[in-house]
Order: sequence, then C-alpha cells, then structure tokens
Amino acid sequence: MINAKTRVLVVVGTRPEAIKTAPVIYELKQHSAKFETIILATAQHREILDQALSLFDITPDIDLNLMHARQGLPALTSRVLEGMEKTIGKIKPDILLVQGDTTTVFASALAAFYHKVPVAHVEAGLRSYNIYSPYPEEVNRRLTTVMTEIHFAPTVFARKALLNEGISKDKIVVTGNTVVDALTHISRLPFTLHQSELKNLKLDNHRIILVTSHRRESWGAEFENTCAAIKEIVRKYSDVAVVYPVHPNPAVKETAEKLLSGIDRIHLLPPLDYLTFVNLMKKAYLILTDSGGLQEEAPTLKKPLLLLRKVTERPEAFHSGLSKYVGTNRDKIIRETETLLNNKNEYEAMITNQNPYGDGFAAQRIVETLVRWSAGEKMLLEPSAEFDPDGKKSTNLREVAAKTRAS
Ligand code: UD1
Ligand code: UDP
Repeated sequence: MINAKTRVLVVVGTRPEAIKTAPVIYELKQHSAKFETIILATAQHREILDQALSLFDITPDIDLNLMHARQGLPALTSRVLEGMEKTIGKIKPDILLVQGDTTTVFASALAAFYHKVPVAHVEAGLRSYNIYSPYPEEVNRRLTTVMTEIHFAPTVFARKALLNEGISKDKIVVTGNTVVDALTHISRLPFTLHQSELKNLKLDNHRIILVTSHRRESWGAEFENTCAAIKEIVRKYSDVAVVYPVHPNPAVKETAEKLLSGIDRIHLLPPLDYLTFVNLMKKAYLILTDSGGLQEEAPTLKKPLLLLRKVTERPEAFHSGLSKYVGTNRDKIIRETETLLNNKNEYEAMITNQNPYGDGFAAQRIVETLVRWSAGEKMLLEPSAEFDPDGKKSTNLREVAAKTRAS
C-alpha cells in the first residue's frame, strides 16, 4: 500500500536543537493524519540532549548515539554523515527537517542531498558574515542553505540574507524563532525554586548575573579573559552573585573550574534542565553569554544581554539596543557590566516590550507550510500569516490558514 502520509524525518543532535525543534514536533503530531513524523537523535550531545528532550516528553524513534568524549569536528562530521546516509536510505523520508547550525544539521542535510531527499531548514538565513565566528556554525549554515528546499527564516533580516544569496523568495517563509514558542510554553509550567537545583544557592538580596559560554572560537585566552572579568566583578560588587551552569564540553568545563571554582558568590553548576534554566533567566539581573539561543531568549524575557562575541548572526536585538556586544576583552566586559549595575537609565533602556525574534507561532507557521508543500501548493504561506514583529501579536495563524484553504 502506498503511504498516503508525508513522512517527515526530524533530526536533533544537540541541546538547542531539542529545545527549538520541540514545538515543531508537537505541531507535526497535531497533524498526524497528514504526517508520519519520525524523530531521529544523532546524539551529537548525549546527556544534555536527553535532558532537553525529556522535559518536552520526546522519545526519539531512532537514536544513533554518536557522541564521543572530546570529539573533533572531522570525526563527528563523518559519523553523522555515515549514520544519516544509511538511515535515510532505509527510512526513505519525503522530507528531512533540521534546525540550526550544528554539525548534525550540516552533515544530515548533506546525507539527505546524496539521497535527493528535500531538506527543510528551520532557523535559516542567519549570517555573521565571518566564517570563523561562530566557528564552524557560520559555514554549517551557509552549506546547509545550498542543500535546502524550504527555508524557514526566523526574521525578515534572515530572509534578506537568503535573498541576497540568490534563494528564490517562493522558498522562504518568515516564521519567528521556534525558541520563543518553546520558552513561552515552558514559562507557563509550575516551578518551585526551593525544590529545584537552585535551592541551595544563597541568591536572595543579590543581583544575579547569569553566565554561559561555550563557543569554540573563544576557547583558550579569550575564555580565560571572560573568567577573569567575572571574578573581578564579583570582587567589586558584594551584592552580585554569578550563576554559571557550565557546558559539559571539557574544553570549557576544565577552564571554568580551574579559574572560577571555590570563589564566594560564584556558583558553577552542572547544566540545568530547561525549566530550571528559564526560571533562572527570569530571576537574573542581566545575562552575560556567547550562546546563540540566549540572544533570542533574553529579549523575550526582557533581560539585558551582554554578548561575549564581536559579531553575531542574530543582530536584531543589537540594532534596537536590547543587547550589547562586549567581546572577550576583560576590561570591556567589566566596564559594560558595571554600567548596567550602576546606571539605572542605561539598564532600563535595554528593556522594552519588543521582541524581534518571534511571537510564539513559529511552529504553527512551519507546519502549515509543510501541509501546503506536501499538497503541492505553490504559495507556501500568505505574507499576512508570516511573522512580523511590528504586526498584531494576536495573529491567529490557524484562522488565516483555514480562510485561505476555504477560498
Ligand atoms: C555543539 C555545537 C554548537 C552548539 C552547541 C550547543 C557543533 C560543531 N557545535 O558544540 O554549534 O552551539 O553544541 O551546546 O555542532 N559533551 C558531553 N555531554 C553532552 C554534550 C557534550 O560530555 O551532553 C562533551 C563531549 O566531550 C563532547 C564535547 O562536549 O565531545 C563537545 O560536543 P560537541 O557537540 O562536539 O560540541 P559543543 O561544543 O557542545
Ligand atoms: N540551556 C539550558 N540549560 C543550561 C544552559 C542553557 O536549558 O544549563 C538552554 C538555553 O536556555 C537555550 C539553549 O539551552 O535555549 C542554549 O544552548 P547552548 O548555549 O548549549 O547552545 P547555543 O544556543 O549557543 O547553540
């Protein structure tokens, strides 16, 4: 019998992919009459992928279990490519869905291309225009773009980048970032601080600086500068506490522990589950990070963010002053952090109701687009249903979609 449903192979490899793909998986499963959704974990990450998936109650149908301790890029890329090539050959999906810019994304897209399976790329079109920052993610994204059939650009800015590279406008849909969907959902769940992993930290009466850092291009001296800056800020401000859930990558963990452990008011923690982490972001005074996802989450939660990088592929919040670059120079990190600790006006200027990254309907837009694509429709989504940060927040996508189908 011919399978009348569209078979979608959804790939997740790392923590941020799990968080940002979860809303899409949820929406696909709401359309089970149309889609056969198969979830595949490459497990480029192991523990922190499982931690993120379990919060969203997602159990992969296939698990390639590929992570090796201290894995290098070439070996990881080969394992994902070979594993995905074999799996796609067996599963024969109608479309492969990937999210973001990791090695999992690039190598899975390449495997799909070898099988001539179309690729849907969520969070397409982000560009820093520096191939070494973020490294190797900027190149992963660009290479994935050339193999992609449907580009889910989170913002108009990302769509412009794709158009500039010659991608046809008919293949791009502006969706908002799915992390806003995930964050909105998780924010509504009950959370009790004194039953969480934060329960033993003495955080009351302190301004919390939430720190995360893991980017490859900052390993070594740059990350050491960041640690030195953190140490100095805590020394100078007795009402400041730093909470830093450390990424499990040994290149990061070993340095963070060597330079920051055992210091009063610096709390190094293991990776936190997303529910606890979201609630920690809500409690934070400001966020100091080099993460991609946090750049989108901070404005969603109205938290000022200082970015430990010189360039970003997510510049929207920087254009509107909600986030600022500090790079990895020790003195600059200290100076900019002190400004936000001491100057109320500067601090408040970074808090607005704007959210340039999404409105919580990204996954609906993505799945509606896939419904149309699988029906062979030419227009993937009406422009009026696309994400518009200046448009009405209450756009009910399901109504827009239903109206269009009826007409
Ligand atoms: C990867 C992605 C990066 C993304 C980040 C999110 C690439 C090249 N890098 O970087 O884009 O921003 O994930 O966190 O795709 N490890 C564990 N347990 C885990 C996860 C990692 O022990 O659950 C350790 C292992 O020793 C592993 C190492 O971290 O070898 C590096 O993992 P890898 O996925 O290669 O790189 P990340 O730095 O995590
Ligand atoms: N995050 C989490 N627990 C942590 C640290 C981060 O759940 O201890 C979440 C964070 O909210 C964001 C995502 O993980 O959604 C970011 O992951 P990471 O920094 O590993 O990757 P990046 O976004 O930089 O690719």
